Amino acid sequence: MDRRIVIVGFMGCGKTTVAEALARQFGCQAIDLDSFITERAGRSPAEIIREDGEPAFRAIETAALRDVLQAKKARVIALGGGAWTIEANRSMVAEHDCLSIWLDAPFELCWERIEVDKAVRPLAPGRERAFQLYEARRATYELTDLRVAVSASHIAEELANEIVQREVGADA
Ligand code: S3P
Repeated sequence: MDRRIVIVGFMGCGKTTVAEALARQFGCQAIDLDSFITERAGRSPAEIIREDGEPAFRAIETAALRDVLQAKKARVIALGGGAWTIEANRSMVAEHDCLSIWLDAPFELCWERIEVDKAVRPLAPGRERAFQLYEARRATYELTDLRVAVSASHIAEELANEIVQREVGADA
């Protein structure tokens, strides 16, 4: 099976590391959409959001996702936490027949990781705001093809293994 995989989930759920672990298992390339945006724009998503605002960032993000999907260079694509909440992005992922996977991590785990590196996530400046976003986004994360429950004891390789096992079933 060679269907491409899009990893989604809240900030701090481990999208990038799981995408990399999956790519190692497949022997293929992974792309992190935020890193792709940073290379292309010469500014990180956090810098773009702070300097130009969230709507400007979302437009850049959608254009970047379109290009990554069209280029077909990477089999595994890790999105930023808000990308999946945009309907146009979900439609593009579906049009490209990618398998979408939600890393469903408990809020406390995400927050622990967000808190240590707050400057990187301007949309979650405090615990309360982060929790509101976490709750508000769950309904759209539910729209993915597969939900993978993440806990603090999971390492990325274990989650990648689980995805490989379940992906075979999902694709059958
Ligand atoms: C965002 C998540 C970030 C980054 C940007 C916006 C969000 O990515 O794309 O700060 O809206 O949840 P991570 O999920 O990798 O932190």
